[in-house]
Amino acid sequence: MNNSPIIETKEDAIKLLNTALEHEWAVSFEYTIHAYSMPKEKFFYEDPVMKNTNDARAQTIQIGIDEMYHALQLGIIITQMGGIPSFKCDEVYRYPKIMDNLKRDKKTEDMVTDLYQSAKFKEGAFPEIQNMALNISYDEVRHSRQFTAMMEAIKAMGEEEALCYQHNPKNAEKEEVRLLHEITRLENALMHRYLKYVMLFSGHQDLSQRLFKNSIDHMRNWDKNSGILIKMGDVIAIENAEKDADGVEKSTQPMPYIYEGKNRMEALKALLPAEEKLIGKYEKLISLVEAGEIQDQLKKHLGLDREHLFTQKWLLKNAQSIKNLT
Ligand SMILES: [Fe+2]
Ligand SMILES: [Fe+2]
Ligand SMILES: [Fe+2]
Repeated sequence: MNNSPIIETKEDAIKLLNTALEHEWAVSFEYTIHAYSMPKEKFFYEDPVMKNTNDARAQTIQIGIDEMYHALQLGIIITQMGGIPSFKCDEVYRYPKIMDNLKRDKKTEDMVTDLYQSAKFKEGAFPEIQNMALNISYDEVRHSRQFTAMMEAIKAMGEEEALCYQHNPKNAEKEEVRLLHEITRLENALMHRYLKYVMLFSGHQDLSQRLFKNSIDHMRNWDKNSGILIKMGDVIAIENAEKDADGVEKSTQPMPYIYEGKNRMEALKALLPAEEKLIGKYEKLISLVEAGEIQDQLKKHLGLDREHLFTQKWLLKNAQSIKNLT
C-alpha cells in the first residue's frame, strides 16, 4: 500500500479508491475469519468507545461488517466516476494464536487510517471523496482502539498464548463437513457477486437494493455457516491459503475476483444457475445432517436461497418484458 498518494486527476482518485477497496475486501474477510477462529463469549473487554463490556469475538465480526460497508461505499463511487471496482483482494492471514491475529488487525487499522488521512487532494478537486476518506478513516481509528482494548483484556486474563480453533484433517473424510465448506465458499462468492451488481446498478435504486438484500443474506449465511463449522469440530477455511512451517496461513486470493455479467441481462441471467447450484448443495447437506439445531439453521439458509431464486427469476423476466431496458 503506497501511502501519501497525490490526488489531482479522476484517474488518481479512482486508483486511490480501488487501492482502498482491495484493502477493505481483505479486512472484511480477515476479521470475520479471525473472529470465527476464537471462542464465543470467552474474551470480554471494556470497549473504549461504547463504554460497555463486549465479547471480543462478537465485536470483531461487527468490525468486519463495517469494512464490508466501506467496500460498498467505495465500489459505488468508483462506478459512478466511470471506473471499474476491483474485486482483487489484499493478502489475508490467520495466525495460530488469537493474540497474533489481533496484533495484525490493529496494525492494519493504523496503516489504512494513514492511507485515508495521508492522501493529498488537490484543493477543491474532489471534496466529497476527500470527505468520504476522512469519514471512513475515523471508523478505522475506532477499530484500532477497539482491537487495542481487546488485546489488553486478553493479556490481563493471562491468555496471550490462547490458540485459535484448528482445522481437523480427519474431517476431510466427513461428507457433511466437506459439503459445508463448499457451501460456505459458494455463499462467499455469491455475496460478492451480488455486491458487484449492486455497484453496477447503483443508479437504478430498486434493483440495486433488491440485490443488496440478497447479498446481505449471503453474508449472514456465510457467517452462520462459520459458526456451524465449529459445532462440527472444524473451523472456517481461508480460500487458496497456504500454511507455513509455523502454522501461519496466508492467501492472496480469498475470493474470486472475476464475476461474469457486464450488463443487466447478463448479470441477472448469471445469478439463476448460481442460486440453483447452492440450493442443490444445501438440500444434499440437510439430508446428511440429523434433525436438530444445525439442520434447522441450514433449512433457514436454504429457505432464503429459494426466496432469492424466486425473486431473481422475476427480476429477469420483468427486465426482459420491457422494451429499451438494457
Ligand atoms: Fe475499512
Ligand atoms: Fe477498520
Ligand atoms: Fe441466494
